[in-house]
Amino acid sequence: MNKRKELIVSAISNGTVIDHIPAESVFQVFKMLELDKTNHQVYFGTNLQSKKYGRKGIIKISDTYYKDEVINKIALVAPTATLIEIRDYEVFSKVSVSIPKTIEGIAKCFNPNCVTNKEDVKTKFEVLTDETGNLKLACHYCEKTTTKNNMVFF
Ligand code: CTP
Ligand code: ZN
Repeated sequence: MNKRKELIVSAISNGTVIDHIPAESVFQVFKMLELDKTNHQVYFGTNLQSKKYGRKGIIKISDTYYKDEVINKIALVAPTATLIEIRDYEVFSKVSVSIPKTIEGIAKCFNPNCVTNKEDVKTKFEVLTDETGNLKLACHYCEKTTTKNNMVFF
């Protein structure tokens, strides 16, 4: 039998593994999950080899599990990510993240004149894909579209 000798990034006993993150998005996911503020153990790797994606990133957070809305948020910057729940060292569940059709209160509207930037109005967007496959956000309140490079998350 061809046994794997070790995991590239240390195994965790309980918590969440976010695998197959595009290498360039690892720090964006890190920021979204506010991992600079957690007291739990966090391991990460980037530019790791992946058969499927060439280069990938991975983040492991001990003793933390995420709700669907957080998982949807991750999908916006890491649509290829796999979310794995580890319980007692075993893979308890594994799901591919899915891109939500609409998002509320997650990202800022790029338009400085948008009502969401002037008043206390929660942002709301339809999530669209451009010709090159990149995500973009169509604002529910103004005519502007926020492209991937302009996305700022709350
Ligand atoms: N993992 C972990 N701690 C454990 C068990 C697994 O951190 N106690 C991690 C592994 O490093 C891997 C992920 O959880 O990144 C999924 O584990 P597994 O399904 O065993 O790995 P693969 O078969 O390589 O997954 P895939 O084919 O989806 O890439
Ligand atoms: Zn707007």
